[in-house]
Amino acid sequence: MASYRIALIPGDGVGAEITEEAVRVLDAAGDIHGFEVATDSFDWSCDRYLDVGAMMPGDALETLAEFDSIFLGCIGDAAKVADDVSLQMLLTIRKGFDQYVNLRPIKLYPGVATPIATASPETVDILVIRENTEGEYSSNGGFFKRGTPDAVALQTGVFTWKGCERAIRYGFEMARKRNKLGGSPAGRVTNCTKSNALNYSMVFWDEVYDHVATDYPDIETDMALVDALTMWFVKNPEWFDVVVASNLFGDIITDLGAMLQGGMGFAAGGNVNPERTFPSMFEPIHGSAPKYTGKRVVNPIATVEAVRMMLEHLGEVEAAEHVGSAIAATLGAGEVRTQDMGGSDRTHEMGAAVVAAMRASA
Ligand code: IPM
Ligand code: MN
Repeated sequence: MASYRIALIPGDGVGAEITEEAVRVLDAAGDIHGFEVATDSFDWSCDRYLDVGAMMPGDALETLAEFDSIFLGCIGDAAKVADDVSLQMLLTIRKGFDQYVNLRPIKLYPGVATPIATASPETVDILVIRENTEGEYSSNGGFFKRGTPDAVALQTGVFTWKGCERAIRYGFEMARKRNKLGGSPAGRVTNCTKSNALNYSMVFWDEVYDHVATDYPDIETDMALVDALTMWFVKNPEWFDVVVASNLFGDIITDLGAMLQGGMGFAAGGNVNPERTFPSMFEPIHGSAPKYTGKRVVNPIATVEAVRMMLEHLGEVEAAEHVGSAIAATLGAGEVRTQDMGGSDRTHEMGAAVVAAMRASA
């Protein structure tokens, strides 16, 4: 029987309660589909920072490297630790494990309301591939004369040919696999850029995109400047198939994407190391919502989606599809609705409903 070791990092705020739902669904998937799941939980968080002065131990990556995959709840609690300090933990894992693809599916399930009038289950099916280890997030820069009237801050983006190419190529591969356009072309990869203003980094990014595209004559090329792309996401979501974006642009457009899919309670992401040299990490992309801590009111669907993506990555494709169809059945039935959906059902009630839907169709 296949067996997987999963590291859990619940993190801050509502992290603990959503991680319980991740485990509930993982256990059910293993039970139904015949694999074992062993979890270890790590208390790496802002509370740990307050106790011992670090979010995670110095050998955290060595510890995590032993696992098949990582589930991350949510990090950050600005009342305890400044966000730019606490969130280094997330960025350290993404970079340290070369999780250079941030996979962010944007899909609207039937039964889910969205504030965007053009969005429907028929029009919203987008996959954003966000470069996840360099670009604007390269942590290069400094402060000078800080706190004086002559203060200066520098933050330098770093774009390497290899770094851009591997993320963009992954996007083209995904477009082939998705076959969303269903023939010739099989798919479309939109280049999210800003080369009209960023005359080094994004001109370079475009060159890499053009270079990679020549290897994929079956995939339609497309480009949108990031500002215009936010407009097109709202106006014509149905146009989009795969979008490739740099680290910061991908971050920004996927929060808009979350609204297309009904809100932050539905949006998940995978930090993927495609070569599998290191474990990949899956997470809901919402924040830690400290004010709701322990109240069990947040929507765990983003968490369950993250588990679905993890199962797919682990090669448990049937189980992943089963989780996806159970989410669709639960949301489609509309009987269980969390606060963000205008209902009063609790976090664990939604998690249990998805598991019940899995068992009912096992
Ligand atoms: C995300 C988050 C992080 C990011 C923050 C918390 C550092 O917004 O995963 O989208 O910017 O990558
Ligand atoms: Mn974000």
